[in-house]
Amino acid sequence: MSNYLGAIDQGTTSTRFIVFDRTGRIVSVAQKEHEQIYPKPGWVEHDPEEIWRRTQEVIADAMQQRVFRPKDLAAIGITNQRETTILWNRKTGKAVYNAIVWQDTRVEDYVAELSRDGGQDRFRQQTGLPLATYFSGLKIRWILNNVRGARELAEAGDLYFGNIDSYMVWKLTGGTNGGVHVTDVTNASRTQLMDLRTLAWDKNQLKIFGIPEAVLPKIVSSSEVYGPAKLTSVEGVPVAGILGDQQAALVGQTCFESGQAKNTYGTGCFLLMNTGTEAVLSKFGLITTVAFKFGQKPAQYALEGSIAITGALVQWVRDNLGLIEKSSDIETLARTVKDNGGVYFVPAFSGLYAPYWQASARGVIAGLTRYANKGHIARSVLEATAFQTREVVEAMEKDSKINLDVLRTDGGMVVNELLMQFQSDILDRPVVRPLIKETTALGSAYAAGLAVGYYKDLDELRANWGVDHTWKPQMENGTRENLYSEWKKAVTRSFNWADTPGVGTAAKSGS
Ligand SMILES: Nc1ncnc2c1ncn2[C@@H]1O[C@H](COP(=O)(O)OP(=O)(O)OP(=O)(O)O)[C@@H](O)[C@H]1O
Ligand SMILES: [Mg+2]
Repeated sequence: MSNYLGAIDQGTTSTRFIVFDRTGRIVSVAQKEHEQIYPKPGWVEHDPEEIWRRTQEVIADAMQQRVFRPKDLAAIGITNQRETTILWNRKTGKAVYNAIVWQDTRVEDYVAELSRDGGQDRFRQQTGLPLATYFSGLKIRWILNNVRGARELAEAGDLYFGNIDSYMVWKLTGGTNGGVHVTDVTNASRTQLMDLRTLAWDKNQLKIFGIPEAVLPKIVSSSEVYGPAKLTSVEGVPVAGILGDQQAALVGQTCFESGQAKNTYGTGCFLLMNTGTEAVLSKFGLITTVAFKFGQKPAQYALEGSIAITGALVQWVRDNLGLIEKSSDIETLARTVKDNGGVYFVPAFSGLYAPYWQASARGVIAGLTRYANKGHIARSVLEATAFQTREVVEAMEKDSKINLDVLRTDGGMVVNELLMQFQSDILDRPVVRPLIKETTALGSAYAAGLAVGYYKDLDELRANWGVDHTWKPQMENGTRENLYSEWKKAVTRSFNWADTPGVGTAAKSGS
């Protein structure tokens, strides 16, 4: 009798394996970080081999902790950092280049070049996405154009592309020994190569981007059996769910109905609203993405506000400035002062994503005076997350015409009480943290559980959701609006810093 579900959560900074029981409670977990590689300003890479090693380690570790055997798991789901791009040789299993991480800006020139003819929104109708450094398609093109031998290998049919999900499933199901090469619709929707409505690779996009179709995985649903795992610790367990991390959190929060939304506070922040079976195009700087597709059922879509840097700024303050020892110290430091002292930190490290899509923006700290100290910097770091979230909430409400009365949150930063209160204050509405905070891993476990009949329907999942804490706004209106307008001014100071003419027109897209 299989009592549990396993989930691999392969994130930007770490990999976790979590075993859940039927109610969504964690019964076993192991987590390991992997190296962030920064070869030059704007470039971010991961070593795929290291990620695969960490994955095997955390699976074995979490299984051993409770002396679980493969038969204890009904299925395994996978959730992953999205857009991050790997190309590997299908005969040797070796990647031809490091994984190019979603935050990497090296394809800025391609964005500029392609935008010149038809603007930044020329592919929005088919793909739901603006031209940006963020998505996988241009990263594939970069590898094919810059890595010796890659294009020849691709033309010969021996090169496989995958986001982390594809790479993971291929490795898990045998790799060079019969591994399956698939990706789910949510991950495929982040490549800018898939037609949002037909859910098939778009031949025209492939042509314009110069990508041979042979490198691409087969697009499958988010919830079905892809194949049995071949790894000893989970040998034979069906791999049965794939969701990009932000879509997984939407599922983990059981936002199955149109109009339901969540905001995940991790490396970046990602606000997704379910829009049902209709792909709604954004006019206010959001993107359109596939929310999930369970087996044969129709796909559901979402509007998404993607913010590249939030928790990553806390890590930057820790690792690059050394102001704090661990992420949670940011709250203690921020509490040494009563307000931000006029300091605003715009973390446009990878340009700005929603709602600006300014590839050439770069980070700024504005409003510095002799008065400012490290406490103010810490506060400005936390406030940046809340201000950026308000910008995407406003865009979301305009695009969807739905009021977000309460904001459902999750992710690593939501343990930060100062941030959560400030978020409620700056939004002027309640902010809710659910009982289960590991919604990303949970969402992929749910998808896998549905595929193998471990869960019989969505109501069983909805019953698992409950509120842990609610923050209510306490700030005066005048203060709130003053802070927000100063933030807006600071944001404009980050624009057009990098020299890439023609990229990024502020705050307006979709038209
Ligand atoms: N107490 C805290 N206050 C502020 N930020 C925090 C706190 N604890 C963790 N963080 C931040 O939260 C992030 C980790 O959260 P989480 O594990 O949800 O991130 P993630 O985006 O899922 O990571 P990954 O991308 O690796 O999956 C880190 O960026 C970290 O700096
Ligand atoms: Mg994550």
